[in-house]
Amino acid sequence: MTVTDLGLPSLVRPTTPAPADGPLIDTYGRAATDLRVSLTDRCNLRCTYCMPAEGLDWMRGEELLTVEELTRLVRIAVTRLGITRVRFTGGEPLVAKRLEDIIAATAALAPRPEIALTTNGIGLDRRAAGLKQAGLDRINVSLDTVDRERFIHITRRDRLADVLAGLAAAHEAGLRPVKVNAVLDPTTGIDDAVALLRFCIEHDYQLRIIEQMPLDAGHAWSRGAALSADEILAALQQHFTLTPDPKPRGSAPAELWLVDGGPATVGVIASVSHAFCSACDRTRLTADGQVRSCLFSREETDLRGLMRSGADDDAVEAAWRAAMWAKPAGHGINDPDFVQPDRPMSAIGG
Ligand code: 5AD
Ligand code: SF4
Repeated sequence: MTVTDLGLPSLVRPTTPAPADGPLIDTYGRAATDLRVSLTDRCNLRCTYCMPAEGLDWMRGEELLTVEELTRLVRIAVTRLGITRVRFTGGEPLVAKRLEDIIAATAALAPRPEIALTTNGIGLDRRAAGLKQAGLDRINVSLDTVDRERFIHITRRDRLADVLAGLAAAHEAGLRPVKVNAVLDPTTGIDDAVALLRFCIEHDYQLRIIEQMPLDAGHAWSRGAALSADEILAALQQHFTLTPDPKPRGSAPAELWLVDGGPATVGVIASVSHAFCSACDRTRLTADGQVRSCLFSREETDLRGLMRSGADDDAVEAAWRAAMWAKPAGHGINDPDFVQPDRPMSAIGG
């Protein structure tokens, strides 16, 4: 197979062993350099495409990695596995314990990785400066609409003002770029996207619109319902002149467009309709210490259990390498026999 084949997430184990050192590669030749760490599955919003109104059966305290276990794994990733970017996510990472300590420990590693955070922005107004101080470089704030009523409808909470204050504080604290991640509502999403783009240009935030993926806790996602990247672009083009950004895209999933000649840009992430799995450079760690080679993995590797049984760094490194070596070619969402992973997005980390 070549790296462009996007097959089903395979449950077939590779027949050759993972390399013992060098980059964190898989059998398709991709090297993971970007680590996503979910710090908690809890959240103070209830976005309809992510969580049920009543919340989920949260992970228990002893199931979660301790801060020491977590920072040990981040150290192994950075110093042994070639990870150069670390992004903390959730659930909602601002409700996790000791986020600032975790960021500071990550920033103290050599070579120092780039450190990013994906957050819903609630509470960020009070913490943005401290996070920057701890070593945070970049931030993505999830915001799907700037209309208060629709925000309440989508997130089931009346917190739009908190998110806007959080965004402003992040910008004020000097975090750059400040990105806004939007997942559009199938019915009102086009109007929301136009208003969001105007809002982001006005405030110097970079908008990224993400196609909704089948990662909702209710397993209610359906292909026809979600807006596709092409539909979103066509709608934006009614209001703005979009020209392809000439900068090379690399492994970044967003296709970037200059808005009305630039410098403002908008990104559209076509995770479902134009999968970019062949350029994927990610490895994921859940809040309970499981490595996932893909958002859509059907398999996990238990590093928490390994650490708690007394494994040394060599053994943890080898287990992580083996997990990534078996990374599937692609997410397979477009295959007829696609099976959604058991964990919802909030328990994997976006
Ligand atoms: N599809 C696409 N993106 C999602 N997110 C949460 N659930 C989904 C989904 N089903 C996004 C959030 C946030 C990031 C962590 O993941 O909006 O920006
Ligand atoms: Fe919380 Fe993010 Fe899920 Fe919304 S999408 S409920 S903000 S974890």
